[in-house]
Amino acid sequence: MTPEEFFYNVFEFLPRQGPGCTGATRKAYSYLPPIPGDAKILDIGCGSGTQTRDLAGLTSNTITAVDNHQPFIDAIAAQAQKDGMAGRIRAVCASMDTLPFEPGQFDLIWSEGAIFITGFEQGLRAWKPLVKKEGFIVVSDAVRFEADPPVELMQYWEKLGYPLLSEQERVEQIQREGLRFIAMYRLPEAGWWENFYVPMLARVAELRKTYGNDPTLAAILDSFELEVEMYRKYKWYFGYTFFVMQNP
Ligand SMILES: C[S@@+](CC[C@H](N)C(=O)[O-])C[C@H]1O[C@@H](n2cnc3c(N)ncnc32)[C@H](O)[C@@H]1O
Repeated sequence: MTPEEFFYNVFEFLPRQGPGCTGATRKAYSYLPPIPGDAKILDIGCGSGTQTRDLAGLTSNTITAVDNHQPFIDAIAAQAQKDGMAGRIRAVCASMDTLPFEPGQFDLIWSEGAIFITGFEQGLRAWKPLVKKEGFIVVSDAVRFEADPPVELMQYWEKLGYPLLSEQERVEQIQREGLRFIAMYRLPEAGWWENFYVPMLARVAELRKTYGNDPTLAAILDSFELEVEMYRKYKWYFGYTFFVMQNP
């Protein structure tokens, strides 16, 4: 098994692939004005689609869910069929860096816990042209809450290649990309545990029984546990924040 296959062997078994919860999706959505029934929504980096289905429950719109991992796309399509939502949820396997859509066709872009993959500013720059004038973008991303967080935490994120910025610095990036900042909302702690870290730790413990003696795979399991430990230790200093913005 390659490290990438092993990585997905953890994530395919989780209800979500990043921190989040239905209540937070709802709360972030509540900052938007009412969206017309024929509006089109694009969910980028949708994973197995929990927030896609939450959005479908909040709106009567059509949602295009995009991820580059085909098994997630197949799972979303199968679930939509089961839920009688196949007419409203379309799942597309594509890279967020080269999205196969014409400019200006979406009223709302939604992306939970995925913009870090391409980079916050780069993602906004690449995705903004896909949104209609006066359309909206909502993303959640990791930020620091305090001016001076512990060195261990900052070094951990720097090693990941994604230095933790403050919410204000993110807002400035939004404005530099020519977007109008509307609101932000911090993901509550429950959103880290219930559907993400609790099932992740259980899956890691399960896989350790079989793969614990393989140094490469055990190191991947260690990295998941370290991530959880960083959150447990430093959750007052950082977290995920939703940013709600408009293409003026
Ligand atoms: C941290 S997960 C978040 C998933 C989901 N939004 C959630 O909150 O549960 C990031 C997702 O982005 C997908 N991904 C990674 N690189 C990608 C890329 N270049 N293009 C599209 N999706 C990508 C992964 O397969 C994964 O499902």
